[in-house]
Amino acid sequence: MTDHARIELDGQTFEAPIIEGTEGERAIDVTKLRSSTGTITYDVGYGNTGSAKSEITFIDGENGVLSHRGYPIEQLVDQATFLEVAYLLIHGDLPSREALASFQENVTRHTLLREDMKRFFDAFPHDAHPMAILASATNALSTFYQDNYDPDDPDSVEKSTHRLLAKLPTVAAFSYKTSIGQPYIYPRNDLSYPDNFLHMMFAVPAEEYTVDPDIARAFERLLILHADHEQNCSASTVRMVGSSGVNMFASVAAGVDALWGPLHGGANQQVIDMLEHIRHSDADVRTFIERAKDKDDPFRLMGFGHRVYKNYDPRALLIKESAHTVIRKLLGSDPLLEIATELEEAALNEDYFIERNLYPNVDFYSGLIYRSMGLPINMFPVLFALGRLPGWIAQWREMKNDPGTRINRPRQIYTGPARRDYIQIDKR
Ligand code: CMC
Repeated sequence: MTDHARIELDGQTFEAPIIEGTEGERAIDVTKLRSSTGTITYDVGYGNTGSAKSEITFIDGENGVLSHRGYPIEQLVDQATFLEVAYLLIHGDLPSREALASFQENVTRHTLLREDMKRFFDAFPHDAHPMAILASATNALSTFYQDNYDPDDPDSVEKSTHRLLAKLPTVAAFSYKTSIGQPYIYPRNDLSYPDNFLHMMFAVPAEEYTVDPDIARAFERLLILHADHEQNCSASTVRMVGSSGVNMFASVAAGVDALWGPLHGGANQQVIDMLEHIRHSDADVRTFIERAKDKDDPFRLMGFGHRVYKNYDPRALLIKESAHTVIRKLLGSDPLLEIATELEEAALNEDYFIERNLYPNVDFYSGLIYRSMGLPINMFPVLFALGRLPGWIAQWREMKNDPGTRINRPRQIYTGPARRDYIQIDKR
């Protein structure tokens, strides 16, 4: 196969090298295009732009394949713990027993927040969205570790990694407790990562709380399934912000904000709103399918479609299985699950969705599981963020360690007015 692409431009030929990935994906390297020809590439939404060479996650969107560091997601979700997957993403290989024990020890040692940070949660309105609190608190964490967050110092990077993984669940649980007016439950380092989070969320000081192992495992599966997804909007944000040389806390805080949007991690919350809306409306599922197809109607089927997957999102397939098992165990049945199943079936048999390769994505069934566990709906994007955290950290570290990294700075095509002279205010 050819190793160069040729671009003919104004009688000149630009030869662009072809880069090939491990799984055969190919890219045209245009890094020298502008300096050689004065012309840039134009790619709104970056659908054709490779912004990094990465060894972390592979997605084959046409065939519904997802793997981390070569390991298929189906194996990781069934056999690994979340912290094992976090280690794999961040350090590149599955940990030995000793390496995992030391990683676990380092993460658990940092789960407490500084006591004065507790006042921070009271400063927000009680109905504040927990994603806003999570992003603000992630930024605020940096203020406590200013002597220890140098992005170019390997020891500080290691500490920031452990601190973020350890403290974000505590921040998330404290923001939830603030919103419902309950006392904070401190982390318990004798519990596993998912058990500790569920304990901080649901325990109250007045009585004993035991974590249900089935719920904890279902929750851990969801954390694993969200752990990384290569150059998505929030991971690209984390890399972009980090490319300016700022610390990991600030970069991850920006990632939380990017994830909050309804087209990204906010979609899991929107799916439940949509299912509730369908349930309480007089219209049937078909009406909503017709609305989703109508270009004049802003309604979209939330939890459907994906920039990269043009096939069933493998995470959605695994989550769908879990949704049925968990809901059967916890609730017996759930009318929203029935509506979701009906909606999926109707959409997958509809030409509009078939022609555009629109399938359920990771957000379509995840909210139903969170909801059955008693997790509040506005916390759903926060739970996505907790899962995605190791991916953001791994992507940030890979960006820092890449000697080719430059500050991320796209170009543009200016389409505003041509040069004109300033007009005095009384003459306008
Ligand atoms: N409902 C109805 N039509 C849709 C949908 C949908 N959910 N998604 C895409 N389409 C249509 C879209 O109107 C367009 O049609 P046409 O070619 O006639 O103009 C075509 O499918 C291609 O869509 P697009 O918007 O150009 O695709 P994109 O790659 O820019 O957007 C997406 C991807 C995920 C933002 C989009 O599919 C969407 O808005 N889905 C709903 C929100 C959602 O579930 N987001 C979670 C994404 S997965 C997890 C994550 O990343 O956080």
